[in-house]
Amino acid sequence: MAGIVIVGTQWGDEGKGKATDQLGERVDYVVRYSGGNNAGHTVVVGQESYALHLLPSGILNENCIPVIGNGVVIDLAVLFEEIDGLMARGVNADRVIISANAHIITSYHRVLDRVTERFLGKRKIGTTGRGVGPAYADKVNRMGIRVQDLFDESILRQKVSASLEQKNALLVKVYNRPAISADQVSEELLMWADRVKPMMTDTSAVLNDALDAGKVVLFEGAQAHHLDVDFGTYPYVTSSSPIAAGACIGAGVGPTRINRVIGIAKAYTTRVGEGPFPAELLDETGEKLRRDGGEYGTTTGRPRRCGWFDALVVNQAARVNAVTDIFLTKLDVLTGWEKIPIVVGYDVFGTRHDTMPITQTDLHHATPIYEYMDGWTEDISQARSFDDFPATTKAYVNRLQELIGVRISGIGVGPGRAQTVMIHDLL
Ligand code: GDP
Ligand code: IMO
Ligand code: MG
Repeated sequence: MAGIVIVGTQWGDEGKGKATDQLGERVDYVVRYSGGNNAGHTVVVGQESYALHLLPSGILNENCIPVIGNGVVIDLAVLFEEIDGLMARGVNADRVIISANAHIITSYHRVLDRVTERFLGKRKIGTTGRGVGPAYADKVNRMGIRVQDLFDESILRQKVSASLEQKNALLVKVYNRPAISADQVSEELLMWADRVKPMMTDTSAVLNDALDAGKVVLFEGAQAHHLDVDFGTYPYVTSSSPIAAGACIGAGVGPTRINRVIGIAKAYTTRVGEGPFPAELLDETGEKLRRDGGEYGTTTGRPRRCGWFDALVVNQAARVNAVTDIFLTKLDVLTGWEKIPIVVGYDVFGTRHDTMPITQTDLHHATPIYEYMDGWTEDISQARSFDDFPATTKAYVNRLQELIGVRISGIGVGPGRAQTVMIHDLL
């Protein structure tokens, strides 16, 4: 197994960071291929908890080279804050390599992200406010600033000025905000050039050489299938391609390099930000799931919206991403319920759907159809093999596997590295 993608199958925060770290000990490269510091991946090692936003989770494994691919948008201040923060905690964090083609999030992207959301009012997306969407918009609009631009000052200044000419008009005339100085932005960016220089490389070449040499490369997805700009609940999505196919574009490797796609699925469902979420529980049940699961955003601290496991959501992600293995997380959080509902269908205007509706209008009107499984009260956080689970836990997992249509190869029973039940080897 050489090229492996880890992808979220729901709306993010499934536990991709933990799963990546878990495999990291046997992996040579861990690559972030999309998104930016809108991500928040929590990894618990012993007594220490690390919240990673931009750095690949492989940073916590000494033998692993962390790579930031061309598909990522980088806020340089956040990058170095994160590196310095880890170094201060004794983590060797200065071996990261960065694509010369990755785009940079500037201060005007952050400003635009926030003012646009405010302007949208009730129609807001609920973004993380990190400037991610505006940076990708500039990339596609051919107005972006790339990492390599830091090393040609005159080009950098021209690009920043050109971009701001348009944005300042918008900021001042439409949003009634002060204009942003091109010189100031250019200087803020140039400040980082010396630190970036030794890290910048042709990461696509590095990864292809590594794959040729039989090394193991893990592509660590951020966000998730249902936040994908093409396949998610548009417009309530992120502005990049977190799906497994995005690993090829965002890292510069061909599709035949990917041997395995591991879909991460939480044993229930959560979502942060706005947008349709048929399984959402707005009552005390949802509150309890949030409390038991500690469902508060790693990046923004916002409470996550919670609901039971939605099989239609994960099933669709499994199909589009050609998921070969499911890693089921946070099963321990479901301990203590007498009955555990699973969403197995939607009722849309009186018609039953067994797969996700194709239009957003239908999805907005979908109400869940549940099936009920028996719960368990035993503490499963110490389970280390499938046989350690009570019969009802096994039945719940088996039913999810049947509904998803893909084998469940690993199960998380707690945030710690050791708190995992492996059923099939993932590497
Ligand atoms: P990511 O964005 O997909 O990496 O997920 P987050 O890190 O945002 O959220 C997942 C949270 O659940 C983190 O706080 C993890 O430490 C925690 N976690 C991961 N796997 C498990 C698990 O199996 N059980 C429990 N109880 N917590 C877990
Ligand atoms: P990880 O990698 C959960 C959501 C935001 C918002 C939408 C658009 O930790 O799973 P953006 O700032 O990207 O323009 O916001 O996407 N979102 C996430 N939700 N987990 C994430 O990352 C997310 N990254 C973005 O809440 O709804
Ligand atoms: Mg997260």
